[in-house]
Amino acid sequence: MKYHIKTYGCQMNHSDSERIAGVLEMAGYEKTAEESEADLIVINMCSVRKSAVDRIAGNFKKYKKYKINNPNFKTVITGCVLKSDRKRFEKLFDLVLDIKEIESLPERIKKCHCEGVKTTEAIPKLQFNEPNNEIATLYTVVRNDNSNYFHIQPQHQSKITAYVPIMTGCNNFCSYCVVPYTRGREKSRAVDEILNEIRKLIKSGYKEIILLGQNVNSYKPDKNTDFPKLLRLINNIPGNFWIRFLTSHPKDVTKELIKTVAKCDKCTEYIHLALQSGDDDILQKMNRKYTTEHFLNIVKMIRRYIPNCAITTDIIVGFPTETEKQFQNTIELMKKVKFDMVYINKYSPRAGTESYKMKDDVSWTEKKKWEVIANKILRETALENNQKYIGETIKILVEKVDDKFIYGKTRSFKNVKLELEIKNQELIINNGKFVKIKITQTDAWGLEGKMIK
Ligand code: SAH
Ligand code: SF4
Ligand code: F3S
Repeated sequence: MKYHIKTYGCQMNHSDSERIAGVLEMAGYEKTAEESEADLIVINMCSVRKSAVDRIAGNFKKYKKYKINNPNFKTVITGCVLKSDRKRFEKLFDLVLDIKEIESLPERIKKCHCEGVKTTEAIPKLQFNEPNNEIATLYTVVRNDNSNYFHIQPQHQSKITAYVPIMTGCNNFCSYCVVPYTRGREKSRAVDEILNEIRKLIKSGYKEIILLGQNVNSYKPDKNTDFPKLLRLINNIPGNFWIRFLTSHPKDVTKELIKTVAKCDKCTEYIHLALQSGDDDILQKMNRKYTTEHFLNIVKMIRRYIPNCAITTDIIVGFPTETEKQFQNTIELMKKVKFDMVYINKYSPRAGTESYKMKDDVSWTEKKKWEVIANKILRETALENNQKYIGETIKILVEKVDDKFIYGKTRSFKNVKLELEIKNQELIINNGKFVKIKITQTDAWGLEGKMIK
């Protein structure tokens, strides 16, 4: 039996897909890159934007054809599925499965002919527009009571970089965001479980550990541990490896965190700090709980304690009521901070969220226009930052080698490409090696360099 997983959304989902693959391979399934060859297609869903949801329904025509050719063919959807989309998906898919129940997937698929398979009868209906009501709390309890799926052995995509989830869920209820509804409330993984997983990864040769959570700064598995402490404990694990983490919420970034990153030699100079908007009124409407002044103070602190730190962010353009002037405030802030990367999202109204009650009054054309403008500023600041690397000698982690080039990453998470010097026979470069190089050229999206002897 062959499986194919299609992953939408953030790194958290990509990490979960590695655990889904782990479960399926344990059950004897083999991976296939070709959808059409699969007996089982697993969609790991993201509901942050409406477009992904629409795409799923669109793909379904193709799956119906596969089913005709292959009577064993089954489709499963899991991941971040909104309750309001669930009914629709139940009609389309053989199985709609909560990610926390993923261990039962092979068993469920076997049983699934597939009528009557209902996976979450225990979960009561959620009132989306009232995040703090009793039913929402009950929903969380039900979800959190489910077995902890993090103990599942993941089938990592890479032999060098491993995602390690440290928590799941979110308590922040930003007004536009579905994550608290799809993933439930924050739940931190036990420290020892995380440390053991990382120790094993380092022993088997992993060189880059990316810690994942919707808001890693609120990691709190017990009363004695917080995120800076976790970083120090991981930093103390023997071995030659880099540590990164995603995502930091500006309201929870502390001086202690920044100083910890600065002090821990394995923590890299890279911080993803999601801004969302550079306008205080919009930030308030987004329920982000910080001001632009606070954001700029954190950036100042990062620049002071972690020189050469790359700072990346997410922004949303076209939030309800956002005016041209307010958008320009985001642009001004982008110019001040000089981000290395900005993931620009056009606002997408999502049923059940607070901002869904507001009129989506910025036109699609305007959102597209603002996206282009923001992209242009990003290109300028990223290029300016990258040009500072020219002539510098730095260490990179090699990720891929082909007949012509070596590809790698800097500590600051920048892509690097090097020409492979065949005459340099003594330099045997493998994936997963750290090598010193000299940067010779750049553009906004990456660096180029030369090996040094
Ligand atoms: N926890 C992270 C974000 C997770 S969602 C944080 O707080 O930053 C990833 C990104 O999707 C968000 O940063 C946001 O920019 C975008 N996003 C979320 N909801 C959206 C919506 N309704 N429309 C457009 N973009 C959205
Ligand atoms: Fe969504 Fe806000 Fe939570 Fe991030 S912090 S996942 S944007 S609710
Ligand atoms: Fe999407 Fe879920 Fe991530 S909704 S952004 S995949 S946490």
